[in-house]
Amino acid sequence: MQSQATYNYKVVRQFTVMTVIWGVVGMLVGVFIAAELIWPDLNVVEWLSYGRLRPLHTNAVIFAFGGCGLFATSYYVVQRTCHTRLYAPALAAFTFWGWQLVIVLAAITLPMGYTSSKEYAELEWPIDILIALVWIAYAVVFFGTIAKRKVSHIYVANWFYGGFILAIALLHIVNNLEIPVTLFKSYSVYAGVQDAMVQWWYGHNAVGFFLTAGFLGMMYYFVPKQAGRPVYSYRLSVVHFWALIFTYMWAGPHHLHYTALPDWTQSLGMVFSLILLAPSWGGMINGIMTLSGAWHKLRDDPILKFLITALSFYGMSTFEGPMMSIKTVNALSHYTDWTIGHVHSGALGWVAMITIGSIYYLLPRLYGKNEMYSVKLISMHFWIATVGVVLYIASLWIAGVMQGLMWRATNPDGTLTYSFVESVKASYPFWTIRLAGGTLFLAGMLIMTYNMFKTMAGGKAVDAPVLAPAHA
Ligand code: HEM
Ligand code: HEM
Repeated sequence: MQSQATYNYKVVRQFTVMTVIWGVVGMLVGVFIAAELIWPDLNVVEWLSYGRLRPLHTNAVIFAFGGCGLFATSYYVVQRTCHTRLYAPALAAFTFWGWQLVIVLAAITLPMGYTSSKEYAELEWPIDILIALVWIAYAVVFFGTIAKRKVSHIYVANWFYGGFILAIALLHIVNNLEIPVTLFKSYSVYAGVQDAMVQWWYGHNAVGFFLTAGFLGMMYYFVPKQAGRPVYSYRLSVVHFWALIFTYMWAGPHHLHYTALPDWTQSLGMVFSLILLAPSWGGMINGIMTLSGAWHKLRDDPILKFLITALSFYGMSTFEGPMMSIKTVNALSHYTDWTIGHVHSGALGWVAMITIGSIYYLLPRLYGKNEMYSVKLISMHFWIATVGVVLYIASLWIAGVMQGLMWRATNPDGTLTYSFVESVKASYPFWTIRLAGGTLFLAGMLIMTYNMFKTMAGGKAVDAPVLAPAHA
């Protein structure tokens, strides 16, 4: 039967195209709020105000751009490595349309000011229920495909994707337990310090599982594929998996240093964050060393450049994170732009770049072509994006350390040397550089969009035949 003989690429194609589209939208909102920080007059109406658009930005880039990228690649990888067509195609289609509905509802309700006020979990309870349903369907499709696999081994990328799917279900449901008051308003079942602890257990693991584990799944499939080499150490990849998922779960309290949270929990969060450096770097080294014997490919393969640069930023942000979790360092960095710089070295440097590289790998294969419409444009995208990230994070490192030092500076008589507004004034040049960096990154995404539509126009949707287990 024809449908048994091919992989289900339809849902992969749908999620792939939407990854690029939502990437442009989310980053455009990012550029706009970066401009609002420089020119407050841009806050013309309340639904375009900074306070409402900031959560729209975070939701759009993490859950729409990042989420669609994870759905697309996990559906592609799980079918190919299990040598079987995706389980329950109707449910897979439901995950696509359901997830798009979640995104559209977020794009309407957040600018209108509806929010549960929990960072990265702002959406109100009816949307939370829809997310839970889509996520359960995702788990059924993914694990159903694993269950009907034609090979006994489960490739390591699937472990990372699987861990991400299970952990996000747990985090989303526990953190969003709330009592509805009206259709648009609910209150969390947690209060006070417990609320803060649950929220940052969620928040940090959203970083660990949504922004890290899932993308490591991408890394373990697309880096070896593009490099044409096996994973450097398969044994290390398995240690990497178990060490990472065990350690991440405990690190959340580093977001709540010097708060009412019991001191021992803060120290525990700090210690586990420091331990986290080891599995993170183990994974990064495993990815980069996969290029052993093929380093020359980096010279002229822009897709590989995206993937390997992403790993370098992953290494950088997972060195910086543990340092920022040290309480004395956090006393300086917390509340400053240093945190925002750290976030974007992970978000732009790691998450966006690994996604972009993987999607450039996928697109021609999904549309029956040997390569993208223009490899030169991929190269141009790579350089523009890299300069953009560097401008973004370097300017905010400087701004952040400057702000922290200005806030704590005191005169000999014990009064503060600077008022808060002086630190804001001193930040303007750095925010302008950040805006320039962000605009460059967005320009790269627009180049990618053009390249994508040209590739689609020159090819036609194809579903590859299911390969015999001897081939990957
Ligand atoms: C063109 C690219 C981007 C620009 C210009 C941009 C800009 C911004 C700005 C101005 C903020 C608010 C900072 C503040 O409150 O001081 C922000 C926050 C944030 N952005 Fe982006 N962003 C971009 C891309 C991304 C991407 C791709 C991701 C994730 C994959 C991301 C994740 C976040 C997160 C998580 C925050 C909240 C950080 C926190 O609360 O500590 N951004 N972004
Ligand atoms: C070993 C890994 C990491 C550790 C230990 C770590 C640690 C930290 C610390 C200490 C903070 C500052 C908390 C505060 O002062 O409020 C932070 C903030 C943050 N980090 Fe990381 N980080 C790591 C990796 C990453 C990666 C790879 C990403 C993104 C892909 C990321 C995204 C974020 C975000 C979004 C925030 C801001 C949260 C908020 O306040 O809204 N981190 N991280």
